[in-house]
Amino acid sequence: MSRRPLVAANWKMYKTPSEAAEFVRELLPLLGESGRADVVLAPPFPALEAVARILSGTQIGLSGQDLYWEDEGAFTGQVSGRMLAAVGCGYVIIGHSERRQFFGETDETVARKVDAAYRNGLTPIVCAGETLEQREAGETECTLLRQLNGGLGSLSADRARTLVLAYEPVWAIGTGRTATPEIAGEAHALIRNWLSRRFEGAAEEIRILYGGSVKPDNARALFSIPDIDGGLIGGASLKADSFAAIVAAAKA
Ligand code: 13P
Repeated sequence: MSRRPLVAANWKMYKTPSEAAEFVRELLPLLGESGRADVVLAPPFPALEAVARILSGTQIGLSGQDLYWEDEGAFTGQVSGRMLAAVGCGYVIIGHSERRQFFGETDETVARKVDAAYRNGLTPIVCAGETLEQREAGETECTLLRQLNGGLGSLSADRARTLVLAYEPVWAIGTGRTATPEIAGEAHALIRNWLSRRFEGAAEEIRILYGGSVKPDNARALFSIPDIDGGLIGGASLKADSFAAIVAAAKA
């Protein structure tokens, strides 16, 4: 089964609406033919609408960086899946390590958010990954399994078919320290194995992205590993030429 690669740009807390619009206008001509890889952009909430306008009529997907699990209500500061879908999002990132580290995200809130995403027709991009401390203590496997069981344990196989996972080792995020293709490949195989046990045949359709200091010069080696189906890109997605080069590596 061949899965079409997906490359997603997580802009985190960067770019105002006008900066985002200017960036997308610069990026589009560099991306070339669509078809061999899916491309998704995840701007901060205030820039979603400006980016959606420019992306309309293209094959490029739009993603939120988070969502709340209720569709509406008295929840000051929160953004719902219903709102994301209404501005044109087809995807939403859930359980990013920065949400887990700084904003109290747990496996339980991940599970609720995944349900809210599907309920609103959004494809969740669910992140999992171990910290340096956990890796050095030999706890990589149990950390990943706990995150998968906790966040996705109650998902139906039918919904899981469209799921996207992202393996993001915390020690590789924003540090310039990328996981070697071997280390990433091992984690991706472990995740694929869990998916097969949990969702059987549907597991083969689920894309597992690698995230953590992906750059134009290491993207090709990472994407050539069989269980790595693309990337979730932070820093290198903020510059049009480097993001376009990473998308080109995924198409190659
Ligand atoms: P960097 O590519 O900046 O390491 O960030 C990875 C990431 O967190 C993407 O979600």
